[in-house]
Amino acid sequence: MAEFTLPANSRYTSVPGRAYPAPAGASNVTTFRIYRFDPDTPANPRIDSYGIDLDHCGPMVLDALLKIKNEVDATLTFRRSCREGICGSCAMNIDGLNTLACTKAIAEVKGDVRIFPLPHLPVVKDLVPDLTEFYAQYAAVKPWLQTRTPAPPDRERLQSKEDQEQVDRPSSCILCACCSTSCPSYWWNSDRFLGPAALLAAYRWIVDSRDEATGERLDQLDDSFRLYRCHTIMNCTEACPKDLNPARAIAEIKKLLLERQH
Ligand code: SF4
Ligand code: SF4
Ligand code: FES
Repeated sequence: MAEFTLPANSRYTSVPGRAYPAPAGASNVTTFRIYRFDPDTPANPRIDSYGIDLDHCGPMVLDALLKIKNEVDATLTFRRSCREGICGSCAMNIDGLNTLACTKAIAEVKGDVRIFPLPHLPVVKDLVPDLTEFYAQYAAVKPWLQTRTPAPPDRERLQSKEDQEQVDRPSSCILCACCSTSCPSYWWNSDRFLGPAALLAAYRWIVDSRDEATGERLDQLDDSFRLYRCHTIMNCTEACPKDLNPARAIAEIKKLLLERQH
């Protein structure tokens, strides 16, 4: 069960953090207010402010973070890899919404840009959350093809175009965790509710015409917490930066379980 109050040393203080002003003469300045947490000090987290001259910065929030790290404060810690919305590693909370820093335009934010780690996860450092449980939930749905019949000796297991279209969209999940960490049910029950990302992955294999473990997959999900903690609040679908619909996938799984009873 989730804790309803934060441990005292995890709240950021009202004491202003460090401020790094923009270079003298900069005329197009936006301030980035960024959550900072260093596990190697006993101090509470703080919010540091960085003035960035947007005339000398790329257009995305990730461009600003890289500029800060490269030119202003090398201690700022965050994950990123592809910088084009493919790897999912730069997911964070920007201006109050979970999204990808590399595809979020600075111009979309009015006023200061406030950046926090994804909510309701332990923080490793600064903007880096601990995704151990999130990945364990993904692994728990066995996200790989399971078959019972031998593979044809001379070709792949084939699938019609229509059947492929069933798995096409859910397969494009990049496991960024924006959805699960925006879900209130997941916040309170992340130890028992699988969360929308893992459930979308489960759905992707349930509807795959080549998979032969559908019954076992549904058995595993038929649980008041693992699946049914979803109360169709829809935050997950709204948060997905890839325009996927985990809420609909969850509803479809519930429907399949219902149909199985009749
Ligand atoms: S629809 Fe379900 S999984 Fe998605 S945010 Fe709501 S409760 Fe969470
Ligand atoms: S469903 Fe969307 S928000 Fe959730 S992990 Fe996949 S890509 Fe990210
Ligand atoms: S850096 Fe890969 S999704 Fe943003």
